[in-house]
Amino acid sequence: MIITIDGPTGSGKSTAARGLAERLNFYCLSSGFLYRALAYILLKHFGYTKEDLYKASKNDIQQALDPKKFKYEMSTKNCGLVIFSKENITSFLKSEEVSQGASIIAINKFVRQKLTDLQRELAKNKNFILEGRDSGSVVFNDADVKFYLTAELGERAKRWQNLQKMRGEEISFEEAKKQVKERDTRDQEREVSPLIIPEHAIIIDNTYLTQTETVDNMISSIKKQSTSF
Ligand code: DC
Repeated sequence: MIITIDGPTGSGKSTAARGLAERLNFYCLSSGFLYRALAYILLKHFGYTKEDLYKASKNDIQQALDPKKFKYEMSTKNCGLVIFSKENITSFLKSEEVSQGASIIAINKFVRQKLTDLQRELAKNKNFILEGRDSGSVVFNDADVKFYLTAELGERAKRWQNLQKMRGEEISFEEAKKQVKERDTRDQEREVSPLIIPEHAIIIDNTYLTQTETVDNMISSIKKQSTSF
């Protein structure tokens, strides 16, 4: 069974995916991690800089994702661990540099094709939850259950501001709101795989819901919608 979770920045996709995976004992993948991992590898191992990352060659992308070196390990307890050349690179993927790098390579069509193929491969023969901006609209548009999580801009900005604080960066609420709005526009207006509400997706606005209530809500929707559950 495949469950997808799409939604904008700060909508709680990854928290919901982890919570749902734990409750249902499903595998779980945060697709942003794949984009981040590829950006990190190109920056650290292939000599690219943030300025020239947008023109990464097909050959370098292919080598960076070579299955002999690049491994995405997941369990039902953990949404992902990325190994490159036997090194666990997971802890490096949340930095601002990698975050910006990921958003640069995310508009490369070859990168999207390779990472879409990889996501489909990882999900094969598994009970699987995929979280990301194009999980139900592109990667698994035939998923058994699709969710679109969202929340009001102010609430998403508050969550974004807290996340930055946890990473050691203090930003004002107004600045957080501006950045989240900019990301929304970039995600919705980009040419390849723009953020949309996937067809048949169940929309959950979690502005006033706790994380547990969001997952409870999702589980009751899955029970209603899927006969195999
Ligand atoms: O969700 P995140 O912040 O970890 O994503 C990192 C970057 O990768 C972000 O700029 C959007 C991009 N991304 C994407 O384009 N498609 C996905 N399915 C997941 C992430």
